Amino acid sequence: MTAPDSPRRSGLRGFGHAGPSPWTDLDRPPLDEAALRRDLLVPDGLWTSVDVVAETGSTNNDLAARARAGAPQGAVLVAEVQNAGRGRLERQWSAPARSGLFLSVLLRPEEVPVERYGWLPILVGVATASTLSRVAGVEVGLKWPNDLQVEIDGAERKLGGILTELSGGAVVAGLGINVSLREPELPVPTAASLVLAGAEVTDRSTLLRALLREFAGLYRTWTAAAGDPHTSELLRAYADRCTTLGRQVKVHLPGDRELVGEAVAIDGDGRLVVRTPDGARRAVGAGDVVHVRPEPR
Ligand code: BTN
Repeated sequence: MTAPDSPRRSGLRGFGHAGPSPWTDLDRPPLDEAALRRDLLVPDGLWTSVDVVAETGSTNNDLAARARAGAPQGAVLVAEVQNAGRGRLERQWSAPARSGLFLSVLLRPEEVPVERYGWLPILVGVATASTLSRVAGVEVGLKWPNDLQVEIDGAERKLGGILTELSGGAVVAGLGINVSLREPELPVPTAASLVLAGAEVTDRSTLLRALLREFAGLYRTWTAAAGDPHTSELLRAYADRCTTLGRQVKVHLPGDRELVGEAVAIDGDGRLVVRTPDGARRAVGAGDVVHVRPEPR
């Protein structure tokens, strides 16, 4: 989980380290690579390889290297633990082994103009939120741009996040979801996990399979529409899940600037449109959003 000021915990046994045996914590069984391959590598499917590694630095880094070496679209790399996981805005992402889903996918959306690639992190967010809501039975929202959020006792908490990067002409989309994190393991009190949110299903293989299938369907629709967020209905699906719309927000912008106002829309480039107290509308492409008022829209 992203924790800007928390120290790396990779030195502790069971934290940020694969540990001696993947079966030491029976609440956290390992993923079955062979079963995932059997179910996901289907003829004419999007996914072309599925690898599960016991430990790596960052799945995003690994797939970025593969992308630079010319790997084809559709590679999926899952790590049981990362020892140098990265989050948005230069933050770290660290979580105990097998406590969540930590993966990256390699995409080459050749039918889509590069200026629309910015919709991919949103697409990953929509696919993930919708899969978790449907399969785990927990309502998952998206804080702009794509923090996965759940509500626990009336408070919005972060369940996971997405980090998308360009490499070797490909897009590497990384996703981290906290599945079985327990309260004392949270990097910050505002983090959450599916278990803490009372999910009905917490089996990581089930969730991963469902998520990759859902993503593949949405990705096909989006690429067939040449990345158009309107005709592919991606913008509508995102707006339906976005917990930021209609809220009073404070946006921390790059360069230590801040913007305060009401989040009124998502524009055709996926930017958040904020109406400031003087009535002006400002579109924001990158930044960290804080929902100022706690009540939901
Ligand atoms: C965020 O800051 O909210 C994004 C976190 C993204 C974490 C995932 S875990 C798998 C992939 N590999 C990384 O190093 N980061 C992403």
